[in-house]
Amino acid sequence: MAIKTIGVLTSGGDAPGMNAAIRSVVRSALAAGINVKGIMRGYNGLIEGEIIDMNLRSVSEIIHRGGTVLYTARSPLFKTEEGVKKAVENCKKFGIDGIVVIGGDGSFRGARDLSLHGIPCVGVPGTIDNDISSTEYTIGFDTAMNTAMEMIDKLRDTTQSHERCSVIEVMGRHAGWIALQTGISVGSTAILVPEVEFDLQKDIIDKINKTKTTGKRHFIIIVAEGVGKVNELAKQIEQATGVESRATILGHVQRGGRPTVRDRVMASEMGHAAVQLLKEGIGNRVIAFRNDHIVDLDIYEALQMKKEFDIQAYNMANEISV
Ligand code: ADP
Ligand code: F6P
Repeated sequence: MAIKTIGVLTSGGDAPGMNAAIRSVVRSALAAGINVKGIMRGYNGLIEGEIIDMNLRSVSEIIHRGGTVLYTARSPLFKTEEGVKKAVENCKKFGIDGIVVIGGDGSFRGARDLSLHGIPCVGVPGTIDNDISSTEYTIGFDTAMNTAMEMIDKLRDTTQSHERCSVIEVMGRHAGWIALQTGISVGSTAILVPEVEFDLQKDIIDKINKTKTTGKRHFIIIVAEGVGKVNELAKQIEQATGVESRATILGHVQRGGRPTVRDRVMASEMGHAAVQLLKEGIGNRVIAFRNDHIVDLDIYEALQMKKEFDIQAYNMANEISV
């Protein structure tokens, strides 16, 4: 089937770099002689027909901006047969022959459903969590880590001045990637992630007490959102070690801000790769970064993949943070 018009949407949690991906999709499609429509608010916009024409200038001045100019949403209705049916009807109505879906694994499941209903879709991985199983990198991860690192560097000043322990929650409901990399980059005493069981006494209390004897006077503990309970942890640490402790939740600030070079470049390349597939009428694929290359995979196979947590880096961090 000749592809005349494609749509682009962002779905799930926003991530810095999504705008750069939208820009790349729009410009790559126009360069191939394909029209582009922007679908607002993720799958909700497809169901509601909130669809706009995009041209070269629609994506000016966005490469450096966080968030997503197309807005994003979680759409429970799209998970129903009725929702998918309405979305497919609107694709026909608006002449959309294929869609680039920028989001996470949930959004890719939606892209798979649409592909099965005859609308070729290509997924582009965008989430700060880096928790998409098929890819080693997701757009937004680098910016989020750098934001967290900068904030923790600031917290460190006050933690150090007061000789305290800071227990800091970073984002990642199901995944500890932000916690791991950020924890390494700030030299935290311990990193708690949902993927690895921990023992409060052995992994934190004993470690703080032991390093105190070597002259260490302040401590940073990084906790992934999926582990949570930072207030409780801070109290337990204070009681058991005598080190005054404070809890800080960094929160959604990690999802915003100007994307880093890595996120802008990755988004530009991935968006371009997605259009190269759609222009040949190839759908039901996801773009991934694997072994230093941008590749594409079958969505079904991509969703079956499992991502191993980097236990080696986790153990290394524990060993050198003393
Ligand atoms: P992410 O894409 O970041 O993983 P979500 O899991 O919230 O975020 O998914 C985003 C949207 O994708 C959902 O609101 C829903 O519209 C769609 N989606 C998620 N899971 C499925 C599914 N199993 N089948 C069809 N659509 C889905
Ligand atoms: O998936 C990205 C993410 O920021 C997770 O780290 C976090 O658990 C979740 O989204 C928060 O989602 P919400 O926007 O619903 O608060």
